[in-house]
Amino acid sequence: MSKEQRVRFAGKDIEVTWDTRLCIHIAECGKAGGGLFVGGRKPWCQPDLASAAEVVDVVERCPSGSLSYAGAPGGSAEKAPSANTVHIACNGPLFFRGELNIADAPADMPGVKFRAALCRCGASKNKPFCDNSHESVDFRDYGSVGEKGTPLDAAGGPLTIQPLKDGPLLCSGKLSIHTAAGRLAWQGTSVALCRCGGSANKPFCDGTHTRIGFRSD
Ligand code: FES
Repeated sequence: MSKEQRVRFAGKDIEVTWDTRLCIHIAECGKAGGGLFVGGRKPWCQPDLASAAEVVDVVERCPSGSLSYAGAPGGSAEKAPSANTVHIACNGPLFFRGELNIADAPADMPGVKFRAALCRCGASKNKPFCDNSHESVDFRDYGSVGEKGTPLDAAGGPLTIQPLKDGPLLCSGKLSIHTAAGRLAWQGTSVALCRCGGSANKPFCDGTHTRIGFRSD
């Protein structure tokens, strides 16, 4: 693994890792305030300028899974949230949080076990992850959701996300889908989400990927 892909910032109590393959510059870290992440400073991240609890709090805000931590006092590691959710970004990716098992995700991407931004415009060069290509292809979808699914009596547990070749993201496990405006719109245990950008029923796959010849490789 090259140094450029995974950048480590060691503190005396906790270490932060920034995975440049996943970062889409949402900037939750930079806006958090305090001295932990300061743009333009070298090094940009200085874990010893915050408490370990603050480091955990800010790192876990990162929606792409680009930031992760290790060595928190007491050996505590990141835990999955109590519910698996996906928020449909306006004109942007699918933001997943939960107990994620993204099929074929590299083992050295610990952050995406809990947080991931997955491409839904079809243009990313880093599929299944978003690389902000939705901006260059002018992807447009305001993140509304029409279907309701089947209400869940519990929301957690493992969520497997299988990016099908030349097809959708097949999600298996309890999942809640939120619109870009924040409304809890859909719940269920199995759903195929569009990642070609062409569905007329976004965020769901409607088979358009076959008609337009979507290629996921
Ligand atoms: S993946 Fe887009 S319609 Fe199926």
